[in-house]
Amino acid sequence: MRELCFLACQISLRPGDFAATFAANEASMHMNNTAQLELDGRAFPLPTTIGTEGEKAIDVSALRNNTGYITLDDGYANTGSCLSRITFIDGEQGILRYRGIPIEELAERSTFIETAFLVIYGHLPTRAELRHFSDLLTENQYLHEDMKYHFQGFPTGAHPMAMLSAMINAASCFDEGLMHWHWGMGREFEVYAARLISQVRTIAAFSYRKSRGLPLIYPKKAYKYTANFLHMMFSCPYEDYDLKPEVVRALDLIFLLHADHEQNCSTATVRMVASSQANLFASASAGVCALWGPLHGGANQAVVEMLQQIHRDGDDGSKFMAATKDKHSGKRLMGFGHRIYKNYDPRAKIIKQACDDILKTLHIADPLLEIAKKLEEAALHDSYFVERKLYPNVDFYSGIIMRAIGIPLEMFPVIFAIGRMPGWIANYREIMEDQKSRIYRPRQVYMGPTLNHFVPIEERT
Ligand code: ACO
Repeated sequence: MRELCFLACQISLRPGDFAATFAANEASMHMNNTAQLELDGRAFPLPTTIGTEGEKAIDVSALRNNTGYITLDDGYANTGSCLSRITFIDGEQGILRYRGIPIEELAERSTFIETAFLVIYGHLPTRAELRHFSDLLTENQYLHEDMKYHFQGFPTGAHPMAMLSAMINAASCFDEGLMHWHWGMGREFEVYAARLISQVRTIAAFSYRKSRGLPLIYPKKAYKYTANFLHMMFSCPYEDYDLKPEVVRALDLIFLLHADHEQNCSTATVRMVASSQANLFASASAGVCALWGPLHGGANQAVVEMLQQIHRDGDDGSKFMAATKDKHSGKRLMGFGHRIYKNYDPRAKIIKQACDDILKTLHIADPLLEIAKKLEEAALHDSYFVERKLYPNVDFYSGIIMRAIGIPLEMFPVIFAIGRMPGWIANYREIMEDQKSRIYRPRQVYMGPTLNHFVPIEERT
């Protein structure tokens, strides 16, 4: 595709365009600066936009109309698809904030449910708001009884991520209100948002039970969100699971750290589906599918599989590290690297500490943790990883915590999906509230055959 660039094209920013101070208010988001695009001997001014944290963008929304050209951006690495007020990431500095609040503060002082409210509604809840939100979660935790027949239809051994996506979508079949709900109809958003957050946990636990051929365990009103999930995963009909506060807190922290991460692959997918005005559950179900892949939310499963393989091979990690640097090996150091972070992922720092803490509390010596630490140490001093700015991401240590608390490997991406639900809902809300929102519809540059004609089958060679 590089040959497309031979046409004379130059884009320049006027000196001083970005010298403005970045006042953190709405008015500062649309500056009057312009960039100049020179194309085929003509100049085209392009407006620029600056975010509240100083992120700069050239607005190309009128580009094709004015010039006939589109932008080409493999993997969208330079494309801002929206203006958003939910999450801020500075990948160079390793900063992550939900609604302006640093992830470190939330990890230390908040809970998943309080953070979910923050992500969706934009502010920390008052006591009364949190109580109301918790009550809605409790009221909406049961699935329609007939959904059990759908679970019965899945074979034992089916991957719970496939069941999760299918069942979130199927939930719309059991809720006529959702099918007829249109954005702006008062209180319904808060009910559906709570229903989705609550039911994804019930569906996730049922998916696991079904994948193992175990009887389904219903949620209990008395338990809080994360404790209830562990209860549905691990209790038996004749004996309740012993809920250890440290285990509940460790899993709650994992959910919280995954609550949002701006325009990643799955969130962008949710926004894409939502842009056609599909319902909230359908949009979230698509997000689960996008999340599943090993380059995204499936990486936590892939990390532990990689560590297990290294352990089985009796490798100290060095052979595997060498393979990850060889492009022909097809191997990557899973849990390392990130499109946005060119520094240590702040979530990985928190998770690494939590990993040490929970293993100590539970008196577990996991050889995989030792291998992971050796790999990290080696990578941080290896020029291949240093030059490419590849650091541990959120998935590098989270799997070791999940293993320690008894969550099976195939459930790791499901845990990620439960955690990410508030972010998907908040992004869905942003799309729906934006009066100027348009259907997402990227263009392409066609590189296939030019005009060709149909040949009857008997004449084809
Ligand atoms: N191991 C070895 N080399 C790597 C790794 C890795 N984990 N990640 C990137 N590289 C190399 C690439 O081969 C490439 O090298 P080159 O410049 O010599 O060709 C360079 O680093 C840049 O990599 P890209 O693939 O272009 O980076 P991109 O931004 O497209 O991909 C991604 C980011 C998918 C996260 C990638 O780093 C990766 O595959 N990591 C492993 C999977 C993983 O951990 N995913 C979870 C991400 S976090 C999340 O989604 C929750």
